Amino acid sequence: MFKPLLSLQRVGKEFPARGSGKGLSYKAVNEVSLDICPGETVGLVGESGCGKSTLGYLVLNLLELTSGEILFEGQNLANLNKAQQRALKSQIQIVFQDPQSSLNPRFKIEQIVEEPLRLNGWRDKQKRKERVKQLLDKVGLGEEYLGRFPHELSGGQRQRVAIARAISLNPKLIVLDEPTSALDVSVQAQILNLLKELQRDLNLAFLFISHNLAVVRHLSNKVAVMYFGRIIELADTNELFNNPLHPYTKVLLQSIPNINPEKPLLVELEGEMPTPHKSPLGCSFHSRCSYANDLCREAGSELQLIKEGHWVSCNAMSRGEKNKGDV
Ligand SMILES: Nc1ncnc2c1ncn2[C@@H]1O[C@H](COP(=O)(O)OP(=O)(O)O)[C@@H](O)[C@H]1O
Ligand SMILES: [Mg+2]
Repeated sequence: MFKPLLSLQRVGKEFPARGSGKGLSYKAVNEVSLDICPGETVGLVGESGCGKSTLGYLVLNLLELTSGEILFEGQNLANLNKAQQRALKSQIQIVFQDPQSSLNPRFKIEQIVEEPLRLNGWRDKQKRKERVKQLLDKVGLGEEYLGRFPHELSGGQRQRVAIARAISLNPKLIVLDEPTSALDVSVQAQILNLLKELQRDLNLAFLFISHNLAVVRHLSNKVAVMYFGRIIELADTNELFNNPLHPYTKVLLQSIPNINPEKPLLVELEGEMPTPHKSPLGCSFHSRCSYANDLCREAGSELQLIKEGHWVSCNAMSRGEKNKGDV
């Protein structure tokens, strides 16, 4: 067993509910437990609004936890002093979906990529420049990009710059939050290949967030499926795709047109995701689930280990009703 690099232990994040739910709180992330080992990619999939980005921000320590613990190399993120927090910032980086808005439009590429170096003790301007050139080279961009502005670059090139910046301080973990969702298909594949290559060279671990299962499959060692703030299924990638157990995962998989990363994930489910005001009793998926029984309507379910490495949270499934009809 590898020692986890990152360990989430019953992590929760509540936000105050808005509008008619005023005064209530809303569990955007609910009791999430997950480990990521060095050099490993864990895919995190689920519909828009299920809490994926919030979980990513918690990992980056950009949001405060409501409950649970996050350990990085065994250290609790909540107990770090200022110096340790600074050190941690270089260890965990993020790449966002939209490089257009994540890169400062007034900065040249050189300034964008060198900023983390400048803020972390790289005083020598010449050395910084050399490092920036080396980083650009690593992401497939030549020196001619140093003096350009983000708006002069294509979407794919901008994402390469965001990746160069993210790896500048030799992080151990990068949260990739829908890193290719805004890109054309052919460019998507290039960026995914670049990420794979960098992972191999630099022994990076990825938390790879996406609503697109086909893309996640391409990169991940294991996959966590999230629904309404909870992880409802977790397994090695091949196991999850060959033997999905949760009714929600089955629907997600059915909606992948082969393994075709160009098609976005379309979930054809009846009913909507629960909201804070319409949060159902029992399992949060029961109102959309064709296997739901009385127990599912009354009681929530916990992740259970079904076989080695394969976890699922479903009452109906554990009571052997999984073969009744189709979803
Ligand atoms: N800062 C915030 N304040 C209040 N609610 C938030 C905040 N950030 C996210 N949410 C809510 O939390 C839920 C999960 O959001 P998010 O993590 O962005 O989902 P995803 O990335 O899966 O689309 C959504 O309902 C969203 O509206
Ligand atoms: Mg998101």
